[in-house]
Amino acid sequence: MKNSTRRDFIKTSTVAGLGFSLLPSSVFAKDAPAKVRLGFIGVGMRGQNHLDLALLRSDVEVIAICDVQQRMIDMSLDLVTRYKKPKPMVINDGPQGYKKLLENKDIDAVIIATPWEWHTVMCIDAMNAKKYVGCEVITGMTIAECWEIVHTSERTGMPLMMLENVCYRRDVMAVMNMVRQNIFGELIHLQGGYQHDLREVKFNDGKNPYGGGAEFGAKGFSEAQWRTEHSVLRNGDLYPTHGIGPIAMMTNINRGNRFTKLVSYATKARGLHDHIVKAGGENHPNAKVNFKLGDIVTTMISTSNNETVLLQHDTNLPRPYSLGFRVQGTKGIWMDVNKSIYIEGQSKEAHRWEDAKEWLDKYDHPLWKKYGNDAAGAGHGGMDWFVFNAFVESVKRKTNTPQDVYDAVTWSAITPLSESSIELGGETVEFPDFTKGQWMYRKNNFAIDDSY
Ligand SMILES: NC(=O)c1ccc[n+]([C@@H]2O[C@H](COP(=O)([O-])OP(=O)(O)OC[C@H]3O[C@@H](n4cnc5c(N)ncnc54)[C@H](O)[C@@H]3O)[C@@H](O)[C@H]2O)c1
Repeated sequence: MKNSTRRDFIKTSTVAGLGFSLLPSSVFAKDAPAKVRLGFIGVGMRGQNHLDLALLRSDVEVIAICDVQQRMIDMSLDLVTRYKKPKPMVINDGPQGYKKLLENKDIDAVIIATPWEWHTVMCIDAMNAKKYVGCEVITGMTIAECWEIVHTSERTGMPLMMLENVCYRRDVMAVMNMVRQNIFGELIHLQGGYQHDLREVKFNDGKNPYGGGAEFGAKGFSEAQWRTEHSVLRNGDLYPTHGIGPIAMMTNINRGNRFTKLVSYATKARGLHDHIVKAGGENHPNAKVNFKLGDIVTTMISTSNNETVLLQHDTNLPRPYSLGFRVQGTKGIWMDVNKSIYIEGQSKEAHRWEDAKEWLDKYDHPLWKKYGNDAAGAGHGGMDWFVFNAFVESVKRKTNTPQDVYDAVTWSAITPLSESSIELGGETVEFPDFTKGQWMYRKNNFAIDDSY
């Protein structure tokens, strides 16, 4: 295919395939900008990761950055200086200061990397200001917020991408490639989650780079300033998207399949209190805090195609990091904890795990084959490069984003649904259909080729 024809194909197929026929066509104008002009709302630790990726690129201009803490702004400006890029407009004007950034007509798109509780209002204001939105994970803390995000995107015609990077993890993409080539047969059951000991993130006094201590809230640094409070006040799967994103893409959720019901259970809460006592002693004021978040929250989800999905949120206890993926079908199974695979009739020995490496290399996704070198050195094993690239390319081509607004809210909705289920003593709750029936007709165009 010639370049121009191929571009048109991508534009048309992405827009139609992802159901953005629901949106007004105004956003898909013919003349795409050669450069994407970005504004950053929230330049804390994650915002700076994205800023770093933006400064590396010749097709991105950083027009403005906004934060409420001078320390984060100074760290970001250091980054800009290191790359010898022009100094962006700086906004440090309190919690509503981001609205000034949104008034800037030179900005095509915004990256939002603020605490979760700010995401909905910032996404909505940004779409109303006609900006493309790339929002960090958790887009909508309640079901009502999720609906508001969808309705705003549909009304304004502005695409929203939740920057879920794990969909781009190399092994995950290889396994998705295998799923699409029917190596596992018909999918039956999938598992994943967020199994990451965050005690040193939740109690980080900012005095050393690895966190630690017993402080959070006003005396904390970065996520300890806000994320820990969610563990005090809420009990549910607070961080479902890294696990569910890849699973949803493998099972074509919102694209011929959908989540139908959910049930969650939470254990007792011990890990965070024990950490405080260990780090600060029994008399530390925070030793009196009652954490509502169960140490392990387990969620089951059913799909309209009759697969089951098991998700786990496990961030308060000593444990090595693992997202705990398992993909199982009628012909075989992959698990990432033991980095093993078994495909009936093809694995070397019957009933025995086989090292997955050869399979993952063989089915390496075309995107990784093409861009693996560009991604080398980027955060989280390179996957951060891909998610940022996908967003920038979508803005440049004025297409919908490969993970779209329906994905963002469907994955994020697991948190409030799991909170409700736990609150109701383990009752099964219905999963909303944010596509309003369009899931039956939409096609899966996520990473179908090596374009972005
Ligand atoms: N995808 C990933 O792998 C990944 C990794 C880390 C964090 N995250 C996500 O990124 C987001 C940010 O997390 P973080 O680790 O950077 O936290 P952080 O606390 O380091 O950064 C948040 C920043 O937002 C700023 N902020 C708060 N309120 C604001 C407002 N009203 N206007 C402007 N700025 C405001 C804070 O001052 C801070 O600098 C969260 O959603 C988190 O879950 C994702």
